[in-house]
Amino acid sequence: ALVSVSKLLFQADRGGYAVGAFNANNMEIVQAIIRAAELERSPVIMQASQGAINYAGLEFISGMVKIAAESSSVPVALHLDHGTDFEQVVKCIRSGFSSVMYDGSKLPLEENIAMTKKVLDIARPIEVSVEAELGKIGGTEDDIHVSEKEALYTDPEEARYFVEQTGVESLAIAIGTAHGQYKGEPRLDFERLAQIKSLVKIPIVLHGSSGVPDESLRKAIKLGVCKVNIDTNIREALVWTMRKVMAENPAEIDPRKILGPARDAAVEIIREKIRVFGSSGQA
Ligand code: G3H
Ligand code: 13P
Ligand code: ZN
Ligand code: NA
Repeated sequence: ALVSVSKLLFQADRGGYAVGAFNANNMEIVQAIIRAAELERSPVIMQASQGAINYAGLEFISGMVKIAAESSSVPVALHLDHGTDFEQVVKCIRSGFSSVMYDGSKLPLEENIAMTKKVLDIARPIEVSVEAELGKIGGTEDDIHVSEKEALYTDPEEARYFVEQTGVESLAIAIGTAHGQYKGEPRLDFERLAQIKSLVKIPIVLHGSSGVPDESLRKAIKLGVCKVNIDTNIREALVWTMRKVMAENPAEIDPRKILGPARDAAVEIIREKIRVFGSSGQA
């Protein structure tokens, strides 16, 4: 059965490692994630974004992940990534998700608190985990300067207040990462992370982690990051391999011959990330 994310993150927090949360968009990705986790003997989180739900449909995503989890020898959680709609959160929980993110980061602070509490009120009694977001994690395509960016970073005192008011189980923070591919090398505000972690005792979540150097990821994990979100690295592994196979075999018309090697490449990148996160052998 699917395990709760809180339980995985509690163990990660104590053990000084992080659990990878990989975005699941289709069958090949679900299979790649589960295969990588099993080869590494690691717990794993599969997460469905808005794009994934629009593309594959909620029931297909939850169905595929449940099938993967049933036959798996490692703990698997299914998490809603960046939920912004209360009704959708309810739908995901009904469909069997073991965890949800309520992303109220675009709302004024008090509204973010109120909505996060509303989600906690329905999730907590049935042991579904809840992740919240404070501060604005942008996309790399949002062309803003570093100084402007810092204004969007999570404020440590505000984080303390937010966690106190909501009692949320994990918190996504903005410390310099962004969704998608980076143009240069991302620089993380580790001091801010350390300050936040000293004020809130719950597991911290790092979004936009594809493209963040391994050393920075290790340092962030040492400072209290327990869940690391990876999407773009999987997209790259899949598409780069598909392009290569199609270029080498322009007459190939069997999608399995193109998607199969792409899936293998996804397994490799996910295994590499799991090793960096330190969760190998923790299942
Ligand atoms: O959190 C954002 C994901 O990395 C991508 O989201 O699948 O909705 O494009 P999407
Ligand atoms: P990346 O696509 O940069 O890995 O970000 C993933 C993410 O944060 C999903 O919530
Ligand atoms: Zn994200
Ligand atoms: Na990124």
